[in-house]
Amino acid sequence: MLSAKLQDALNEQMKNEFFSAYLYMAIAGYFESEDLPGIASWMRVQALEEMTHGEKFFNFIADAAGRTDFRAFPAPQNSYEAPLAAFRYGLKHENFVTASINNLMDLAKEEKNHAAQIFLQWFVTEQVEEEANFSLIIRKLERIGSDGNGLLRLDEELGLRIFVPPAAAPV
Ligand code: FEO
Repeated sequence: MLSAKLQDALNEQMKNEFFSAYLYMAIAGYFESEDLPGIASWMRVQALEEMTHGEKFFNFIADAAGRTDFRAFPAPQNSYEAPLAAFRYGLKHENFVTASINNLMDLAKEEKNHAAQIFLQWFVTEQVEEEANFSLIIRKLERIGSDGNGLLRLDEELGLRIFVPPAAAPV
């Protein structure tokens, strides 16, 4: 059973996760336009992961006998001044998602909703990985600087990422 307040916050986070997918596809489009298909592919995989995150919220709300509420989100940013700026933008977005998940966990604790806390725990851990992934690529891009060959090597490396559906959250 979900309180109206918790249900609203879960729906808002479901929106954030699906928006993340939309944003990362927009960033993938930027990398395609920059002739960096490997980095674009990394972003597409990231978008697929975000779709599964949104679906986890959908499933939890439905399983908890709540009501899903799909909301509009703003247009994502489509253009970036450089690859580094695009990843910095992505990290900033992940920082926002982390803060949002933490607020949601605080609310679940406040309401003593144990099922929601266990469900959200997966996302707390996931966010550590999400921020680490973006941060590592940012550090690599900072080292690469204006080295075109370095950027092409990174494009090859990131192009190897494949989509692996995350394990089901314990609900
Ligand atoms: Fe699902 Fe990248 O947060």
